[in-house]
Amino acid sequence: MDLSVFSNTLTSALAELRYGDQPQELYEPIRYSMSMGGKRIRPLLTLLGAQLFTNDWQRALRPAMAVEVFHNFTLLHDDIMDQAPLRRGQPTVHVKWNPNVAILSGDVMLVRAYELLFDIEPALLPEALRRFSQTAAEVCEGQQLDMNFEKEAHVSIAQYLDMIRLKTAVLLGFALELGARLGGASPEDADHLRRFGTDIGVAFQLRDDLLDVYGDAATFGKRVGGDIVSDKKTYLLLTALEQANEAQQATLHRWIGNNAPEDAEAKVAAVRAVYDELQIRPRTEELINAYFQDALAHLEAVQAPAERKQLLRGLALQLMEREN
Ligand code: IPE
Ligand code: IPE
Ligand code: MG
Ligand code: MG
Ligand code: MG
Repeated sequence: MDLSVFSNTLTSALAELRYGDQPQELYEPIRYSMSMGGKRIRPLLTLLGAQLFTNDWQRALRPAMAVEVFHNFTLLHDDIMDQAPLRRGQPTVHVKWNPNVAILSGDVMLVRAYELLFDIEPALLPEALRRFSQTAAEVCEGQQLDMNFEKEAHVSIAQYLDMIRLKTAVLLGFALELGARLGGASPEDADHLRRFGTDIGVAFQLRDDLLDVYGDAATFGKRVGGDIVSDKKTYLLLTALEQANEAQQATLHRWIGNNAPEDAEAKVAAVRAVYDELQIRPRTEELINAYFQDALAHLEAVQAPAERKQLLRGLALQLMEREN
């Protein structure tokens, strides 16, 4: 089997999902956001987690979609918080409609995500709901830390890594763990897969932070430089602050703290120039690779057929090298 079997199944199933009709200001933004695609890696991880242990991976399809609907809910709210104008190459919901619409459409997406989980067989449902709820709360914790850090002058790299573990990585970990459990994995294997997903998730967010500075806007589909403008305390910025000489410190401090600069492009260019001088890009790539290696060790430990694990390794590798 190859990846396209899973992604095609997912694409058709997502296209058939119905969220509701009236009032249309509530439901139209959901269709807008869900029909725009995106990489759909989280539900893919759920399906790939399930197929490691069962041929009947289709039983994980609706729960997998729950994870994707939840993810899209977080994006609607995240784009308000980050004042992001673009997502997947299109105007964000809060820009195309307004922030209240994005808040409420997001809320109902969270509800729909829970409903999609109700299909899980009764013996597995309570634990799945408990783990999903825990993960969702952790995402909120990470998002709040991300916002807090924008205003904080001193954030350590350890604090940053913990913040991205919460806001991003735990959901990838949960997506895999869920698929594994639905497929009939042992608790040990489900835990290795959760940790594989979490490590991949940290690497995934590091890559996202890198693309936010160095990506090609057309491919990335989001505004490039947004993290620099809003003083996001990313691994890139924290490493630059740690490594900078006096002149570079002065440049960075001239711009940081001014999150509504008159000339946003000048801020992005100045900060990026310091990153270039300090080799921040290869340094970040090194850390991404370190997390990728840690992730692979957990995948290795899983008791499942090698060719089925190969699908997950291949997907993880694609994610580490992604441009969007
Ligand atoms: C965006 O997630 C939010 C992050 C955690 C970086 P994705 O990069 O998976 O977004 P889509 O769904 O593919 O658009
Ligand atoms: C988002 O991190 C994590 C969540 C949506 C929970 P970012 O704010 O970096 O994601 P993008 O870059 O907007 O997709
Ligand atoms: Mg954000
Ligand atoms: Mg964002
Ligand atoms: Mg980002």
